[in-house]
Amino acid sequence: MFDLTIRGGLAVVDDALAAVEIGIRDGRIATIAEHVEDGDVIIQADGLLVLPGGVDTHCHIEEPLPDGGFQEESWVTGSRSALAGGTTTVVAHTPQFKGGGLLEQHRAARARASQAMVDHGFHQIIADPTEAVMAEIPALVADGVGSLKAFLTYDSLHLNDAQFLRVLQAAKQHGLMVHVHCENYDAINLATRALLAAGCTAPKYHATSRPPVVEREATHRAIALAEFIGQPIQVFHVSCAEVAAEIAAAQARGLPVWGETCPQYLTLTADDMDRPGFEGAKFMCSPAPRSAAEHARVWEMIQRGVLDVITSDHCGFSFGGDRGKARHGRDAAFDVVPNGIPGLAARLPLVFSEGVSAGRIDVPHFARLVATNPAKIAGLYPRKGVIAVGSDADLVLWDPGRQVTLTNDLMQHAIDYTPYEGMQVTGWPAITIRRGEIVMQDGQVTARPGSGAWLPRSPRLDTLAMAAD
Ligand code: URP
Ligand code: ZN
Ligand code: ZN
Repeated sequence: MFDLTIRGGLAVVDDALAAVEIGIRDGRIATIAEHVEDGDVIIQADGLLVLPGGVDTHCHIEEPLPDGGFQEESWVTGSRSALAGGTTTVVAHTPQFKGGGLLEQHRAARARASQAMVDHGFHQIIADPTEAVMAEIPALVADGVGSLKAFLTYDSLHLNDAQFLRVLQAAKQHGLMVHVHCENYDAINLATRALLAAGCTAPKYHATSRPPVVEREATHRAIALAEFIGQPIQVFHVSCAEVAAEIAAAQARGLPVWGETCPQYLTLTADDMDRPGFEGAKFMCSPAPRSAAEHARVWEMIQRGVLDVITSDHCGFSFGGDRGKARHGRDAAFDVVPNGIPGLAARLPLVFSEGVSAGRIDVPHFARLVATNPAKIAGLYPRKGVIAVGSDADLVLWDPGRQVTLTNDLMQHAIDYTPYEGMQVTGWPAITIRRGEIVMQDGQVTARPGSGAWLPRSPRLDTLAMAAD
């Protein structure tokens, strides 16, 4: 009757841990009960947690760059890394380049993702919201794109207020979520010019050029403009508590505003960028990692539910290659080093270890942060992000006591380093199941390239209040 039966583990069901058995048929969860009949395959999960497969709604995979190059992670290697780390669904980004359109990029992105082994969707970046460009949005929506991404900084991507308002308006018209990278472009430019003029070019000055205030100001502005239009937004990669406080204030006023953070803001610091030579470039992402004291304050915001999603913001820039961090040489000034760090495989282990193993959150809260809430915001729930009858059988069987030292080999990505090298974690994925198929066991990823499904998304913005609960 079942293709697969899982028994013996403790599963997160109805937001609680329960000793249940799970029967899987045709890629979906068919039954959850105290006792379930034998399936063709039986997994005895004694001692393991049974969690929803990770949903990573902020990734950059095989993403084209303005200079004609690509981020170095392909869909095959990015999927391998995701499955190795217990993530079964990702939402990546389709770029728009100023002067260019959307649909051509969208079609090319979908074609590249046809090699994916994880289920996937795309956020559409809007970098140049002319009327001709905005007229392409209905065709994207028809193809299942459920969200727009707006950057308030970066030379090639940033929107001024008028342009950001236009994006918010379009999203409202078409029922799309808007995700925002909140940092003040002009303030960062001012600080960068002053630093470079003073000869301060090393990687550590990346953090000096973009202190928390530039993130807080842009977050405040993004929330205010979204309120003005009446459009829900999710603030991406919140690095510190003073930014989360802007989100908390908006939420307290009943505004549909959500906040995401990432493992780098819970484990890395600005001091990591102050390593000898070019080494600090390995930790350069935006916003910049802050301090160890800030990690505790960000956890508090997670515990309060202000930040309710943790993604990786995985970026594929190698350290040693000539297409990655050192694309302008190892003496390049901080302002031309590509931003972003790899983290697809490390996300669940780091959050479980720092969250559950360290006693900051319980297991159901962990599942909400890394799977359920991202699925809700992305319009993928309840197909994804939850262990429930009828949902896709995307599961990760998790060994909560396994102690692992993170190494780059364990990440199984195409990048030649991990910023988390040497960190100790407690808790590790033993088996990953994607739509009923065992796709990773004991570190061996067995999925076939091209077996990942395209996920048409519709955010159902009317139901999103659930995500903040
Ligand atoms: O440094 C980062 N986060 N780079 C990736 C692009 C973005 O800002 O999300
Ligand atoms: Zn960003
Ligand atoms: Zn990003």
